[in-house]
Amino acid sequence: MSALRGLPTPCALVDLERLERNAAMMRRRARTLGVGLRPHVKTHKVPAIARIQHDGAAGPLTVSTLTEARAFAAAGFRDILWALPLPHGRVQEALTIAGGLDRLGLLLDCAPTADELGSSAALHGTDAAVYIKVDCGYHRAGVDPDSDEALDLARRIHAHPRLQLEGLVTHAGHAYSCLGPSAVAEVGLREGAAVLRLAQRITAAGLPRPILSVGSTPTVMQATGLPGIDEIRPGNYAFFDAFQAAIGSCSLDDCAFTVLAQVIGRYPATGSLVLDAGALALSADPGPRHVAPDCGYGRLFNQDLSQPYPRLRLAALSQEHGKVQVRGGLRPGEFPVGSRLRIVPNHSCLAAACHPVYHALRGDLVAAQWEPVRGW
Ligand SMILES: Cc1ncc(COP(=O)(O)O)c(C=O)c1O
Repeated sequence: MSALRGLPTPCALVDLERLERNAAMMRRRARTLGVGLRPHVKTHKVPAIARIQHDGAAGPLTVSTLTEARAFAAAGFRDILWALPLPHGRVQEALTIAGGLDRLGLLLDCAPTADELGSSAALHGTDAAVYIKVDCGYHRAGVDPDSDEALDLARRIHAHPRLQLEGLVTHAGHAYSCLGPSAVAEVGLREGAAVLRLAQRITAAGLPRPILSVGSTPTVMQATGLPGIDEIRPGNYAFFDAFQAAIGSCSLDDCAFTVLAQVIGRYPATGSLVLDAGALALSADPGPRHVAPDCGYGRLFNQDLSQPYPRLRLAALSQEHGKVQVRGGLRPGEFPVGSRLRIVPNHSCLAAACHPVYHALRGDLVAAQWEPVRGW
């Protein structure tokens, strides 16, 4: 087993103890809320991590790409929801993957895609499990749950012999812009209410009741009850990150994904350092500036994560450089060139996607190396 101190920089680290703790916390939370758990694996894209999330089982998952669907299917996961509006031209591929699974849920929010999927499923001779994407206020994608269009779409899907209207999916991504936990909780209530309202209209029209699927990490972390909801789809909680800590979903001690970097430049005259981790190791997510204007591009710690460095601000990123500004200036001898630091990134999903391999640490020993799935 190799050791943390021998790893090259920059590299991606996953703290197994924190990951396992986060996974167990979310399983407990789902049980308490009385809902199923369908974690979104876009955060890590590693089947072994999904197994940890489901305590060793190959439980239900949410994916963001067909490549993830294929890889997780090959790793034994049999109930997968592809939570992206179905792109034109990927339908045959999706149906082929679906053929080898118990369920591959496909997302729709418009009639032309429903028709394309219906015709392809008929040609293919298979049934397709369809979820309607509902807009609960994020305004990224989805139908307005109170619109005629939403009910027409449900009827259209139901009427097609090869399409099963399986569920309604919504995601309150706007929770990330909230100023505090109570505002996040409010958004969470509206997230659930949006799919409940449409489900009531669907059943009142004589159609079967769809599965109701909601969830983002912030709204799930602030939920105190989810009446009428069937499942949650949080993803980020596996790793958490500096953004989630700033908006009250977790503490910095829960963050399981970090980037190891080293000081490659030290400039006492300007009170700054340069690290070998830039935007291609961290992503350039600007972070929770609405609640922490000074957040920089992540939080800095010593190599073993035992000591935060609140005087260090990761002020700017270029492709391979990370510029750190030291509050109060550099003291003699501190942070020499070659010293190693850990960065809790602003957005762990995007930072993790920068890396071809994650080193999974138990203490300061590398217990496993995981290669995340790549591509679309
Ligand atoms: C449709 C959908 N569901 C669930 C999630 C998971 O949300 P989070 O990353 O906040 O846990 C996302 C994240 O983008 C999403 O787009």
